[in-house]
Amino acid sequence: MAMLHEAKNIGSSSAEKHPFDVDKIRQDFPALGLRVYGKPLVYLDNAASTQKPVSVLDEEDRCYREYYSNVHRGVHYLSQKATEAYEQARRKVQGFVGAARPEEIVFVRGTTEGINLVASTFGRGRVEAGDEVLITEMEHHSNIVPWQMLCEQTGATLRVAPIDDRGEVILEEYEKLLNERTRLAAMVYVSNALGTINPVERMIEMAHAQDVPVLVDGAQAVPHMKVDVQALDCDFFVFSGHKMFGPTGIGALYGRWDLLSAMPPYQGGGEMIRSVSFAKTEYAEPPARFEAGTPNIVGAIALGAAVDYLQGLGLEAIRQYESGLLDYATEALSAVPGVRLVGTATHRASVVSFLIEGAHPHDVGTILDREGIAVRAGHHCAQPVMDHFGVPATVRASLALYNTRQEIDRLVTGVAKVQEIFG
Ligand code: ALA
Repeated sequence: MAMLHEAKNIGSSSAEKHPFDVDKIRQDFPALGLRVYGKPLVYLDNAASTQKPVSVLDEEDRCYREYYSNVHRGVHYLSQKATEAYEQARRKVQGFVGAARPEEIVFVRGTTEGINLVASTFGRGRVEAGDEVLITEMEHHSNIVPWQMLCEQTGATLRVAPIDDRGEVILEEYEKLLNERTRLAAMVYVSNALGTINPVERMIEMAHAQDVPVLVDGAQAVPHMKVDVQALDCDFFVFSGHKMFGPTGIGALYGRWDLLSAMPPYQGGGEMIRSVSFAKTEYAEPPARFEAGTPNIVGAIALGAAVDYLQGLGLEAIRQYESGLLDYATEALSAVPGVRLVGTATHRASVVSFLIEGAHPHDVGTILDREGIAVRAGHHCAQPVMDHFGVPATVRASLALYNTRQEIDRLVTGVAKVQEIFG
């Protein structure tokens, strides 16, 4: 088995300016020091959820200890402190995705809630019987089911743009599927099952040429590359905090102001109103209109700390480092006889999905786990992708900014162990 381990630091102009010192970065993540079954943890399940840096953990702790109260409600000192921190987190997220104004950022539970919000409000107002909603074959279930539900409720049809055997959207087919009946398009930026980076700018351009608004699922993009919603020219963009080193239960929906401000509320309750009487309720302006009830205050503030963390390292330096690591992993695994990669798109981020001849992915996942290596085995909430490749499941190693070539070597050794067991 070839061990391709080389120097851990990349050499590039931006890396030279801000050396990407992965050993130092690893010190920021307490969980990376864990031992699992007596072996040092190799955490390669980042597409499911990432580990958290000390700065995020500390900010959560500090908030609860030093400036916690409900937001937007109290005139007292603590409520004002918490409100200021919560709104500052919104401004951080605005800068993180390049939104034009903070009011375009709605805090939600995560990507899934963001997509459901858009489907239930914007979608319900726009889509009627006979209309079409266009997605792609590589979507996560969270970017399929809400649109399917919308189509069932309205009598519209869900259209699906096919992918090829490398796991890339067939752009000519995508363009052909856009027509005068298409009322909405939703697409994933980076596939959680294959790692494919979609040419979303081009796809958005195609959709806009037909006056079709576009939602981009950016959950697997934001931890790995710089995103600019204005440069992309998307209408909606959603992502989760827990996949980008922030807490669970918090994420953000970006919506273009003219669209958000014309949308009806998603949920009714406190804080989303301007005035309430039994005769009539007037709704608040966004983002409050979409944040009914007490929000995840500390989650949002800690998400702001995760944004600071990523920006402190530099998104371009992260992208370059991870790109080298992904090439290394792809090369190392492809070199192993009996290993088949699923998803070989030219542009990929983070993910290597693979199969080992003669071994079920769940068994592979279990054996790797006993070696201290955490991967995901299954359909990755993307069953249509598995159907496309004619497999029930894959083993998925998903990388983040703190992974190393030594860890990839451990994975390759683990694969060899699986092959020994399965003969
Ligand atoms: N969407 C997450 C994954 O891909 C849970 O694993």
